[in-house]
Amino acid sequence: HSSMYAKKSDEHGPRRGRSFDTVYEETELNNEMNKVTISKIDEEWDNRSAFSGRTSGSERGATIMFALKNEVGGLVEALKLFQDKHVNLVHIESRKSKRRNSDFEIFVDCDSNHEQLKELTQLLRKHTDVVDIEPSDNSALPDEVNLIVLDTADGPWFPTKISDLDLCANRVLMYGSELDADHPGFKDNIYRKRRKYFADLAMNYKHGEPIPYIDFTEEEVRTWGVVFRELNKLYPTHACKEHLKNLPLLTKHCNYNENNIPQLQDISHFLKERSGFIIRPVAGYLSPRDFLAGLAFRVFHCTQYIRHSSEPLYTPEPDTCHELLGHVPLLADPTFAQFSQEIGLASLGASDDAVQKLATCYFFTVEFGLCKQDGKLRAYGAGLLSSVSELTHALSGKSIILPFDPCVTCNQECKITTFQDVYFVSESFEEAKNKMREFAKTIRRPFTVRYNPYTQSVDVLKDTTSINSMVKDIRYDLDIVEDALNRLQKHLRA
Ligand SMILES: [Fe+2]
Repeated sequence: HSSMYAKKSDEHGPRRGRSFDTVYEETELNNEMNKVTISKIDEEWDNRSAFSGRTSGSERGATIMFALKNEVGGLVEALKLFQDKHVNLVHIESRKSKRRNSDFEIFVDCDSNHEQLKELTQLLRKHTDVVDIEPSDNSALPDEVNLIVLDTADGPWFPTKISDLDLCANRVLMYGSELDADHPGFKDNIYRKRRKYFADLAMNYKHGEPIPYIDFTEEEVRTWGVVFRELNKLYPTHACKEHLKNLPLLTKHCNYNENNIPQLQDISHFLKERSGFIIRPVAGYLSPRDFLAGLAFRVFHCTQYIRHSSEPLYTPEPDTCHELLGHVPLLADPTFAQFSQEIGLASLGASDDAVQKLATCYFFTVEFGLCKQDGKLRAYGAGLLSSVSELTHALSGKSIILPFDPCVTCNQECKITTFQDVYFVSESFEEAKNKMREFAKTIRRPFTVRYNPYTQSVDVLKDTTSINSMVKDIRYDLDIVEDALNRLQKHLRA
């Protein structure tokens, strides 16, 4: 699954000395993802039956695939769950697993609405210890059940609670074990082994666990040091004020300095207190849909490995230097955090086309955004703030800069291995947020969602009960505002 990189490396032009992000080219990546999915679960399975959208025939269909250990009664028990939830089975197929002799893979076509499906998957998960579909090697395969839920008639499946991210965070495209030929670490076996170590850590991670502390090598710290030093020379004149404000706090609380690579667990703790964001380690590129879904829960997926030491100021993929120096200082800002989360919320259950547009807006703001502060252009995009060459280029006066307008920006081509053709400037995060909010309203989706911070889940607002419960919350908030105003008034009179 490295074809897209091969294609990209044909492009000529300035080589961008930075890591780029996980979000781009939805369709292409999705195709890749499907290939990964199919090849992993389904080498010789009949694609026609599993993936040809048989569900489209029935109005409320869902397609579920899971693997069972070959034990007496296992299938009966699983199917009983369908019966208990009154989910009508339309079609069922089984075959012996190609990956593991003792396993069977079961493919089920059923009539189900979104609610039923949600309950059913929860039950399946409970009874069969369901894990994600994507273990990187066969030895990591679970003993009981593997499950993937494909799309329902209500639209693409999406996570509705924060631990659901365990189900999508491992569908990654990795340089890790299969580095591209033009990757600086391609011929370095020690580096590739190290990358495998980081990939395994991320793949085994589950929501709620502490992020493992890493014993970084001297070489890795040296590479980080070079990046840290060079970028810090530029920040005072190039970075936005939010970045400049938060970097010293990170030095204080998370031990950011040129001789130490900060630990994701410490950063996650720091961000949680500042803006409610937490970090989740990730092995490589997530699809835009999965990456944006994380943002909806204020979860930021971070790589934990370091770029190859041969080219400290260049990396063809995101690495921890990019995440820590580019993204983290901004994620500590509450307005920026809200902006990021709203892009994520808008993406849940949206069509591929809509997700692509949102991902492109994300790319030209969170990764490559510029803003105006005190009459000067400054960078807030992490792709810029982690690249000496592109940060310099973007603010050199020679680049093309347009006002950020989601309707225009969403059609701009994202460049992966070269500088962007165009950068977009916002007056403030507040302005960018409001524009994105208006844009999100134009996305066709049969429901709207609201984040519930108490349960860290997403409420789907599409019936009177859910909307009523939201009205109650707002009423309570308004009571607090009224009470505060009354007390203030009394205080002023006294
Ligand atoms: Fe990024």
